Amino acid sequence: MRDIETITAAIEATPGWAEAKAKHFVGSKRGPDKYFRTRAWVEVAVRRWMALEPLVTPNFKVLDIGAGFGYFAIVGKAYTDHIDLVDVPHPIYDEVTRLLELPKYEQEVRAFTPFVGGRYDLITAHRMVFDKGWGQDEWQYFLRDVRDMLNEGGSVVLGFNNRRDKRFMKWAEPFGALRISEHDVLLTYEALNG
Ligand SMILES: C[S@@+](CC[C@H](N)C(=O)[O-])C[C@H]1O[C@@H](n2cnc3c(N)ncnc32)[C@H](O)[C@@H]1O
Repeated sequence: MRDIETITAAIEATPGWAEAKAKHFVGSKRGPDKYFRTRAWVEVAVRRWMALEPLVTPNFKVLDIGAGFGYFAIVGKAYTDHIDLVDVPHPIYDEVTRLLELPKYEQEVRAFTPFVGGRYDLITAHRMVFDKGWGQDEWQYFLRDVRDMLNEGGSVVLGFNNRRDKRFMKWAEPFGALRISEHDVLLTYEALNG
């Protein structure tokens, strides 16, 4: 299931996929329709999982915040049966995750507002947009919430958009934030509790 072509073909064969693409895909580079370029985004998700492979344990539970089309969850099915998705309402993302039958629930990440959920071994937020304008105080509030949703030994992966990682790393690196790819940063349970 980790094979990019096989996963791409399976997604594109999903009943309703072609119709949804015909309705929404306008060929933009930045708009949400860009995620209909299935193969490219499956490849991104496969790479993300390969970097996280050493963390995976039996019954591994994952929460993906701001899941978009849900590619990370689909590729993750090769690793675990327990992946929940969270997002804000969005007409295209909602239609696609419904087609793909992904377990998504609605919750908005907002500065200084409790983020609530179950317990997970891995919490991810790739290509985040909710952190626009955030500084150390907003981050510390959010990280306290997600820390309390981690099982012992778990991790949080923050995937930064638009180089906001530089500001974050200035204060987070000394307490153990690790870069795992160009814009993705990993915080372990130990670092978050240190
Ligand atoms: C750039 S897309 C990234 C999608 C996916 N994570 C990926 O890497 O391909 C940003 C995602 O964050 C979601 N989002 C935007 N604001 C949010 C918020 N305040 N809380 C949670 N999700 C949010 C959007 O609906 C969208 O799914």
